[in-house]
Formats: sequence, structure tokens, C-alpha cells
Amino acid sequence: MSGSPVQRPWFETIFDERYPELFGPLEGDAETEVEEILALLPLPPGSAIEDLGCGRGRHAIPMARRGHKVTGVDISENMLRLARCRAEKEGVQVEWVREDMRTFCRPRAFNLCLSLFTSFGYFSDEENRKVLDNVAKSLKEGGALLLDLRNAGKGLSRLEDGDKTMEVPTGNLRMSVRFDPRTMRARAEHTLVRPDGIRISSTFDVRIYSMEELREMLLKAGMRVKDFYGSLSGDPFDDESSRMVVHAVKAKGRSWRATWQKD
Ligand SMILES: C[S@@+](CC[C@H](N)C(=O)[O-])C[C@H]1O[C@@H](n2cnc3c(N)ncnc32)[C@H](O)[C@@H]1O
Repeated sequence: MSGSPVQRPWFETIFDERYPELFGPLEGDAETEVEEILALLPLPPGSAIEDLGCGRGRHAIPMARRGHKVTGVDISENMLRLARCRAEKEGVQVEWVREDMRTFCRPRAFNLCLSLFTSFGYFSDEENRKVLDNVAKSLKEGGALLLDLRNAGKGLSRLEDGDKTMEVPTGNLRMSVRFDPRTMRARAEHTLVRPDGIRISSTFDVRIYSMEELREMLLKAGMRVKDFYGSLSGDPFDDESSRMVVHAVKAKGRSWRATWQKD
């Protein structure tokens, strides 16, 4: 006797071999982004960096090539295989860890944690908070977190809702985004129609947090927001910005909460 199959959550199924075709066209140039991140947050050589939800190592590999000690964490074996393969080909050393970001924690190990290209907000509020708790614990005192997210302002004011189609090298990509104010989650459905008529699609479902919510969640986790930017290059943030990039730091010393409240 067999019961109904257990349905796996979307974030365990969409990051497979279809992902580069379905979401790759929206990716920025990772080499440029790494330069931008290092200009925004200059790091001493040999810094320890955690790339949480590292995917196929788009940022982890260029960071390691610049002499940093990088740990790429991801749940998808598929993505990690692509990452390992590329790092090996380029002769770059990265530590790849297959683990769920809801459990990965390495106390006081990192100078910087990166969460890039909307790799945060996939779970329930409680689990998303757990991810931030793990990040805070894994950072050294004074360490930084850079969260690169969809712009909450756009989501909340429904500016992002709509349908778009673009020609991509492997066919025609249709993207539809809907924000549900009841759940505060955005669903982005991407469908690619290849020239031979074959159709593939995936749906992304992510909680959109406001600036205030993020500030509070980060504070509870033990981090303080330093800035919100509109892009990785540090453009000022507003409701029209393409991205919401949060720069938070883990405070030094025990009395940081009191210090922050006096700011
Ligand atoms: C939108 S992709 C971004 C990947 C990468 N940061 C980039 O910019 O190319 C999100 C990544 O998060 C990973 N991911 C999803 N759920 C995860 C989880 N529970 N724990 C760890 N990684 C997860 C996916 O496998 C995927 O590689």
C-alpha cells in the first residue's frame, strides 16, 4: 500500500538543471558584483566569507580568487556540483558545504556573510528568523552581513506585479510576479518556451520583509542595520530601487544592545 507522495517544498526542487535557463537571464555580472561588494565593504586579505545559498558559486569563486577564504553553503547538490566543477577548472579553493541554511551554524567563524540574488525569505517567519540567528552566531564580532533582496517597497506597493516576456538564448522567457498582501509573499513564476515548443517552468515564493521588519529581526538576532542600499554598488535606496541591499553588523562586546538604543 502506498500513501500519497510527500510534496517537497519549492526551494528543494527548483534549483536544479533548469534553474540557469529560467533564472540565469536575470542575473547580473557576478565579477562586477564582487568588485562592488568589496568596494562597499573593504575586507583585509584572507578574510573568512560565508556565501549562504551560494548556488553555482558565481560570487564564492571570484571572492576566493581574490584571496579570501570562502565557504559556500547550499542545499542543492545540483548547484554545488556546478560550483565544484567550475572551481576545479579555475584552480580556485572554496569550501563547499551541503547544508540547510536553517541549520548551518559555525560559531564566530566569518568576517562577512553574503546572501545574494534573493537567497533569503524562503521559509516561515520563524524559520527565516532562525537563518538570521545562525548568521549572527556564525559571524565574528564586528562581522558584516550583506542581504541582497527584492525591493520590499516595490512589492508592498504592488509595483512589481505584472507579466514580462523576454527573448533569451534558449527561447522565450515569460515571468509573472504577484504579491499577496495577506501573506506578504511574492510568487514569481518563470516559464521558458524553447524553440522546439518544449516548456519548462518554476515558481519562486518568497516573503517580502519591510525595512522595519528586517531591522527588528536583525536586532533580535544580534545584528544592527547600518544601511539600506538600492543596489550592490551602493546606490541610495528608495521605493523604486531595483534591489534592497541590507548591510548589517554584529556588534562588538556584550553591551551592544544598550549602545545601539542610544544611537
Ligand atoms: C536564487 S539562488 C541564488 C544563488 C546564488 N546566491 C547566486 O547569486 O547565484 C538561491 C540558492 O539558495 C539555495 N537554497 C535554497 N534553499 C536552501 C536552504 N534551505 N538551505 C541552503 N541553501 C538553500 C538554492 O539551492 C540556490 O542555490
